Amino acid sequence: MSAAQQILGSANMSESPAQSPTSGERNDRLWDMSSFRHGLPDEGGNSSTAGAPVAGANSEPEKNDDGTPKPMRGGVSLDTMRSLYGPGTGFGGLRRSNSSVVYPGGPPEFPPVKKLNPLQKKRILVSGGAGFVGSHLVDRLMLMGHDVIAIDNYFTGSKMNLAHWFGHPNFEMIRHDVVDPIMLEVDQIYHLACPASPVHYQANPVKTLKTGFFGTYNMLGLAKRVKARFLLTSTSEVYGDPEEHPQKETYWGHVNCIGPRACYDEGKRVAEALTYSYARQDGVDVRVARIFNTFGPRMNWHDGRVVSNFIVQALKGDDITIYGDGSATRSFQYVHDLVDGLIALMESDYTDPVNLGNPEEYTIKEFADMIVELVNEHRARYGDAGKTSTVTYLPAVADDPQRRKPDTTRAKEVLGWAPQWAAVDGLKETVAYFYQMMHQH
Ligand SMILES: NC(=O)c1ccc[n+]([C@@H]2O[C@H](COP(=O)([O-])OP(=O)(O)OC[C@H]3O[C@@H](n4cnc5c(N)ncnc54)[C@H](O)[C@@H]3O)[C@@H](O)[C@H]2O)c1
Repeated sequence: MSAAQQILGSANMSESPAQSPTSGERNDRLWDMSSFRHGLPDEGGNSSTAGAPVAGANSEPEKNDDGTPKPMRGGVSLDTMRSLYGPGTGFGGLRRSNSSVVYPGGPPEFPPVKKLNPLQKKRILVSGGAGFVGSHLVDRLMLMGHDVIAIDNYFTGSKMNLAHWFGHPNFEMIRHDVVDPIMLEVDQIYHLACPASPVHYQANPVKTLKTGFFGTYNMLGLAKRVKARFLLTSTSEVYGDPEEHPQKETYWGHVNCIGPRACYDEGKRVAEALTYSYARQDGVDVRVARIFNTFGPRMNWHDGRVVSNFIVQALKGDDITIYGDGSATRSFQYVHDLVDGLIALMESDYTDPVNLGNPEEYTIKEFADMIVELVNEHRARYGDAGKTSTVTYLPAVADDPQRRKPDTTRAKEVLGWAPQWAAVDGLKETVAYFYQMMHQH
């Protein structure tokens, strides 16, 4: 029996009536395990149903008319998610009529959240909840019906990313720096707080290291005190400039500990070391996701990450700047896939690190060309004849890894997870989002 089937088995068993469920049983019930069946390999390694992986799939995922994947884990529809960031709804969509204090035009209009019974409803802390990934995770957990507390110091995140939840009885937002301790009663902690783009994490490398160590230490201390399950969002950067390709979780990495990226890479490595030390020493229930490059709506467009940089440059008709000769490879996953993976990992019994990324591999040059083409198509749809960007090359950045591609076998085996979004489909949504943002400024 595969690990994923064992997880399913234990979840199914917990559905039998129990007088007073243990917290483990409550955890099993929380997640609608039927959604795990999408893409779950059968004994022969074949994908069992719709929702199969994009890469290496034996059957095609069920698609919407626009080619995007149909099922969203947690029973949340893609249309609902889109209404929170998508074009045509105004930036932030439903949030426009929301206010936490005064409702002159009547009660606030909130996105539709599920009603969970008290045994299923969790109180979940998301550190870094106002950031790019954090805000999508908060959206999904809220729509699934949980109580969510987001904490953030707004270094790279923005309240605007979560303003559509302000005033909702299931939601709380706290301005807090994770370098300082905090005391809260929660069942689960998703620890995301940490700047993720080189521009931001290199702006104050000592603070980045403090966030990596003390931030994780404080969140783990909280998890230990209140017996919450803890999930660390680690990174593919722990592999450094890898000598192994694609990267498996068993690879120990090749990181320059004194280079300009060390504050982030080593900060995450020490965060992983702390996480497993708390697990061994104090029995904290931990999960570690190693996230590969992720993109999507709500990326900060000034943070210099490849996707947001290229899209903004292409939308402005500026030159697309590639550092190096463009032959370095990257794999990019769409943010909804990542959120699916994070929730699946949190709800699984698996405690070793798990790669979450899309193994579709592109050279940086191919990616730049694809973005220019998508931006031109999008502008043409609006009769907007902008200037087509050309690609220019700048010297390579120190310690920039040459190749990066996740081996996602473990995620498939233990979580039944594989990316559903082709990079091109995610890019279409992201281009539409940035286009809309640009026309609002
Ligand atoms: N996006 C990716 O491609 C990627 C890849 C690998 C790992 N990750 C990890 O995922 C997490 C989220 O990344 P993201 O892309 O959403 O980045 P982001 O910068 O958009 O979000 C990080 C959030 O953490 C907050 N934050 C930073 N330092 C803090 C502190 N000391 N106290 C409280 N809040 C703080 C920021 O204000 C921001 O809201 C990070 O831990 C990052 O390392 C992301």
